[in-house]
Amino acid sequence: MIEFTQVSKYYQGRAAVNALTLNCPEGAFTVLAGTSGSGKSTTLKMINRLVEHDAGQIRFAGRDIRDTDVQTLRRRIGYAIQSVGLFPHWTVAQNIAAVPQLLRWPKRKINDRTDELLGLLGLEPAQFRSRYPHQLSGGQQQRVGVARALAADPDVLLMDEPFGALDPVTRAALQREIRRIHRLMGRTIVLVTHDVDEALYLADRVVLMDAGEVVQQGAPYALLRQPASPFVREFFASSEPGVRLLSLETVAQRMRAQERFNGAAVPYNMTLREALSRFVELGVVRLGVTDAAGQPCGVLHFNDLAGAEPSV
Ligand SMILES: Nc1ncnc2c1ncn2[C@@H]1O[C@H](COP(=O)(O)OP(=O)(O)OP(=O)(O)O)[C@@H](O)[C@H]1O
Ligand SMILES: [Mg+2]
Repeated sequence: MIEFTQVSKYYQGRAAVNALTLNCPEGAFTVLAGTSGSGKSTTLKMINRLVEHDAGQIRFAGRDIRDTDVQTLRRRIGYAIQSVGLFPHWTVAQNIAAVPQLLRWPKRKINDRTDELLGLLGLEPAQFRSRYPHQLSGGQQQRVGVARALAADPDVLLMDEPFGALDPVTRAALQREIRRIHRLMGRTIVLVTHDVDEALYLADRVVLMDAGEVVQQGAPYALLRQPASPFVREFFASSEPGVRLLSLETVAQRMRAQERFNGAAVPYNMTLREALSRFVELGVVRLGVTDAAGQPCGVLHFNDLAGAEPSV
């Protein structure tokens, strides 16, 4: 969907991004990770031409982005950023409706979509619709930013540390929400983060950057198990590599589906990392597993957490 070929961007003669070649496949969740100043935000902004690249080629849906009208391009791309973004003199509803307005959606459709998104992101529509950005907490502003990026149902969603200012609980809830939205709508998402756990939890594909260059890109599992350099190993495995691996799999992948157990249960879609902490918390070696309808669908054994590698 988005392909960079030997793309460079220079500021005052210094490369912020250097000969970058990367690929964000259609429908995939790509996470750009890396140290501060490694060029992640610059890379993201080149996709919707908020920053123009100096060398190389960027293709969007097969076409050179320089051959596409900027406005047309941006309408197909939702963009959410951590810091700025909301129009201060517009209400929450007006902010979310910015792109649908441009696209001249009927009023009714815009209102419905706005309320739907507010609900999706945990903001009670009646309470938040008419507020102004300065009447929101930082985390609420971020959520409105994400809602605005999603509003017109864009082909591609770009997010630059969208959950940066959130407490761990809200952050985890929004990560689950965005993952659910991704699975549901099959949209192509490119998200920037320097949070290792967030990268591993969300990504189909991780692109790890350092000093304006890609150090390694691939499935999270591959980066954890076959780091291409000491930098990659250090970035991901500075602590608890084994536990991190568990966050890549769900209970459903390791449970014994034919067994039943009447004690404490966990949902089938919980990560094994969360399940591990449940085992320790409860001091048990077996947990029942429930399906989406809350019905028993298997048993997870503590010993199976250390089982064979999944296929990737
Ligand atoms: N407008 C600009 N003018 C000059 N230099 C810039 C500009 N924007 C970015 N840079 C430089 O380019 C490099 C990459 O910046 P970028 O914002 O892409 O990094 P980042 O990976 O997003 O970092 P962070 O994690 O801190 O947000 C940095 O060295 C930065 O100082
Ligand atoms: Mg940045």
